[in-house]
Parts: sequence; structure tokens; C-alpha cells
Amino acid sequence: MSITSGKPAENNTSKVIVLGNEKGGTGKTTLAIHLLLGLQAKGMRVAAIDLDGRVAGFSKFLKNREIWAQNSRQNIYTPPYFTVSPSQNKDTVLREQEDFAAFAGAVEKLEHISDYLILDLPSGDTYLSRLAHSMADILITPLNDGFLDVNVLGDVDEDFAVRHINPYGKYVLDCLTRRKNIDGKGFTWLLVKNRVSSLGAKHKIKVDMALSNLAQKLGAKIASNIGDRVIFRELYAMGLSVFDVLDKQTGVKATASHNEAKKEVMDLIEYIDSK
Ligand SMILES: Nc1ncnc2c1ncn2[C@@H]1O[C@H](COP(=O)(O)OP(=O)(O)OP(=O)(O)O)[C@@H](O)[C@H]1O
Ligand SMILES: [Mg+2]
Repeated sequence: MSITSGKPAENNTSKVIVLGNEKGGTGKTTLAIHLLLGLQAKGMRVAAIDLDGRVAGFSKFLKNREIWAQNSRQNIYTPPYFTVSPSQNKDTVLREQEDFAAFAGAVEKLEHISDYLILDLPSGDTYLSRLAHSMADILITPLNDGFLDVNVLGDVDEDFAVRHINPYGKYVLDCLTRRKNIDGKGFTWLLVKNRVSSLGAKHKIKVDMALSNLAQKLGAKIASNIGDRVIFRELYAMGLSVFDVLDKQTGVKATASHNEAKKEVMDLIEYIDSK
């Protein structure tokens, strides 16, 4: 999908991966970072847009990475990126025009120089966020492994049958309809359980049953899980990740858990590629 023209993509435009969830703190930024660097490790050209310009966690990571590259003189890849901050204009029409122009301007500069464009969204329901959801080729919604997160999509009864679709579920379906009206194709919606631990097996079974029924009702797919691992957060301030050479660059000794972390991200990328 070409964002600036609103028409189906030409062959040389990037695939747009959007990290979205109306609920905060589910791992959007963490997954945006790791998908970006995982795709890069596979030899893809990647670029990023941080649409959460107020917090700017994705941009800060990428800035930290540029600083690390400069100071360490290590030849690490620093992807091109833009930060889009929401307009503060009090007039709604002008505010949306300004938001659109800032977003479209960033996309225009990146969509022809990357194979994948990764968009990190803020939580909440904003004009920019809906626009980005509607422009996805792949929408990834990270959810923590519990009903507090799963219920963002909808409610289930005691047999886990879907009773009600909640605002974020409707929000995505609205964006999908809007997108289908533009290019007739829509986007693929992937649900990713993030911060999954090995504890609480009985609870997990219930959560999985609810999630599976909600996914079916919403036309979403459940992708592979991402575990709760310190390595997914401990290198943030350096702008590095488990995909960088750990011992040499960071003083962090590579462990079996790091290999598992890399594999989880690569499995997710493989799943994305298969869609
Ligand atoms: N797989 C993981 N393992 C360990 N920690 C994680 C993992 N995923 C996320 N975290 C941590 O959880 C917290 C929330 O993650 P993150 O900021 O990525 O969520 P978010 O959805 O982008 O939040 P927001 O809605 O505020 O933008 C952060 O402290 C992050 O380091
Ligand atoms: Mg975030």
C-alpha cells in the first residue's frame, strides 16, 4: 500500500509493519526494535517511523544506537528513521491535516529505500494511530499473557465463547474496512503474546482458549510467542540488541537464553513472511 497516494503499492515500495494496541505497555516498542534489527540481520533494508512522538521510545533507542556507533567506532547498522509528534493545533481539521502531512512526509522519504518500514504507535485512539493502522500491510498487536490484555479485544463467557467485541477490536475492524475500501485487500492482523513466562500453565490454557476464539471472530491470526527476557530490555540504553555481537560490544556475555530470544524474533519474522 502506497501511503502517500493511498493506492496499491508498486513493486518497489516497502512492506509496512505496524505495531499497534490501544492498551499501553504491551511491548509495541520492544517488538518494533527487535523486528527491525531481526529483519536487518536477515539482510533486509529497514526503516522506522516513531508515531509515539511524545514518549519517543523507538526514536531514543535509534538515537542511542547512532551514539554508540559513533563512540565505539563499531560498524553497526543504524537505520533511517523519523519521529512524528502529534500536532498541537486546537482546530481539529487543521490538526489532522498537519498530522497527515507529517506522517506522509516521513513515509515518502522512506518507502522507496526500504524493504520493510516499521511503525511504532502510541497507545490510545488518535487520528494518527487510526491512519497508521489503515496503512498497514501487517498489523502486529502484542498482548501480555492474561485476561487484562486479551479483553482489550473482546469479552468471553465462562466457556470462552466470544460475548462482546471491545473498542480496540472494533477500532481495528473499522481500519480494515477503510483499507479494503481503498485497495480491496486489507491487511493481515497478527496477535503476538509477549512477555510469556513458563509459569501458570492452567491460566495459560484459559487465556489461549479465549484468545483463539477472539482471533477467529476478528479474523486475526495468532503468531508465535515472545518470552519475558531481560535481554529484550537490558541493552536499550546503548541502542543495542541481542542481534549485536554481545561479548565484544557490550560486555554482556552471550547465553543460551539469548539464542532463544533471537530464535523467537526470527520465528516471528518467518511467520510474518509466510503471510
Ligand atoms: N519480551 C519482553 N521481555 C522483557 N521485558 C519486556 C518485554 N517486552 C516488553 N518489555 C518491557 O515491558 C515494558 C513495556 O514495553 P514497551 O514499552 O515496549 O511497551 P509499549 O506497548 O510500547 O508501551 P506504550 O504503550 O507505553 O508505548 C518495558 O519496560 C519493556 O522493557
Ligand atoms: Mg511504546
